[in-house]
Formats: sequence, structure tokens, C-alpha cells
Amino acid sequence: MSNKAGKFITFEGIDGSGKSSQISFLQDYLLQNYNIKSIITREPGGCDLSEKLRNIIINEKMDSITELLLLFAARNEHIQTKILPNLNNGIWVLSDRYIDASYAYQNGGRNLAENKITELVKFINAPIPDITFLFDVDINIAKQRIIKRNEKLDKFEAENQNFHLQVKNNYLQQANKIENKNRIFVLDSQQNMQEISQQIITIIQQKFLEVN
Ligand code: TYD
Repeated sequence: MSNKAGKFITFEGIDGSGKSSQISFLQDYLLQNYNIKSIITREPGGCDLSEKLRNIIINEKMDSITELLLLFAARNEHIQTKILPNLNNGIWVLSDRYIDASYAYQNGGRNLAENKITELVKFINAPIPDITFLFDVDINIAKQRIIKRNEKLDKFEAENQNFHLQVKNNYLQQANKIENKNRIFVLDSQQNMQEISQQIITIIQQKFLEVN
């Protein structure tokens, strides 16, 4: 990528891990302190077609390979129409979930083979994030947070605790892989929000904004 390229930052974690509020915080922080412009987006979804697919993916029952293929169809459209054009214009992209979620949910949760996901990542030539923040939380605390929101549960949120435990463990396994050591940063989502925000800022500054 050229110097002009924006940075690509993704936020991951089980449902109810508290990532969404930190994304808006980071967007404001980057603009106010560094005049860095960014967009907030999400997966599945992020652009018109992919938001339509999202509706189907998170609400309809389907075979797990169909689910995986729809996720990657939505992802490809999102990458081509939104992620890459923004990065190429120097705009930072902050995405609520991305590829790591496919490993965690479809390999960890649904038990699909890991290499099926890797093949699709290669097939669509998906850009790798510069940084991924993984919000780690106890599955029971996450469940309480979801229940408190008082909204209708989607297909994934309604899965049992064993599913969520497999998702959580898969995320942590990915974070521990050598090739991901400089990309995935695990944040303890049971700390208060200010502490988490501070850790995010410190990591971003060390990686991109201050070279000492
Ligand atoms: P999410 O945006 O977290 O839902 P909400 O807005 O309700 O917090 O994500 C929707 C669901 O999609 C989430 O439960 C995880 C699932 N998902 C996958 O299973 N695989 C994927 O690759 C992605 C991106 C999401």
C-alpha cells in the first residue's frame, strides 16, 4: 500500500463483548487528536447489497457451508465497494467484525474445516487488517449484556453457551498464532470502558502515530 493508504482496523469478539462503543470512541479520538478521517463499517454488511445478505445470514436457518459462502459473498462486495476505495483514498476503515469472525464462528462455532475459510480468504484476495482488537469476555457476562439489550436475539446470539465458548476459544487461538502476534491484540473486556479505550489508543500510537 502507498503512504496515502488509510489504516484498516477491525474489532472482534463474541456477541456481547462490548466492542461497538469502542469503535465510535476511536473514530472521534482519531479525528480530534490527529485529524485522521475514518469510516465505521460492519460485517456481515457494510454496503447496500451486503446489508441485504446480512439480513438473510443472521436470521435464516441454513446449511453451514451456505452460511460461509454467503458471508464471503457479502465480504467480497464490502471489500470491493467500500473497504478498498476508502483505504486507497487515505481514509481509515474501522470494521465491526471481519475475517477473524469467520474462523471463530464458522470454524470454532460451526466446526467447518479451517482450510475452507483460508481458501475463501485467498480466493477473494481479502486485505489483511493492520490491527485487530479482540474483546475477550466471559461467556456468561456476555450473555447478561445481550439479555439486557432487550432486543430480539439473532440466530447466532440464540446459540447455546457451548457454541459461544467454542467461538471465544477459537478467537483466542487465532490471537496466539505466531503470524497474528503483531496484528491481533486481546483486550480484557471486563475492565471499565476508559481503561479499554486507553489501551486501544496506546496500541494505535505505538503502531502508527509515534515512531520512538
Ligand atoms: P454483529 O454485528 O455482532 O451483531 P449485532 O449487531 O447484533 O451485535 O454480528 C452478527 C453475527 O454474525 C454475529 O453473531 C457473528 C456472525 N458472524 C459470523 O458468524 N461470521 C462472520 O464472518 C461474521 C462477520 C459474523
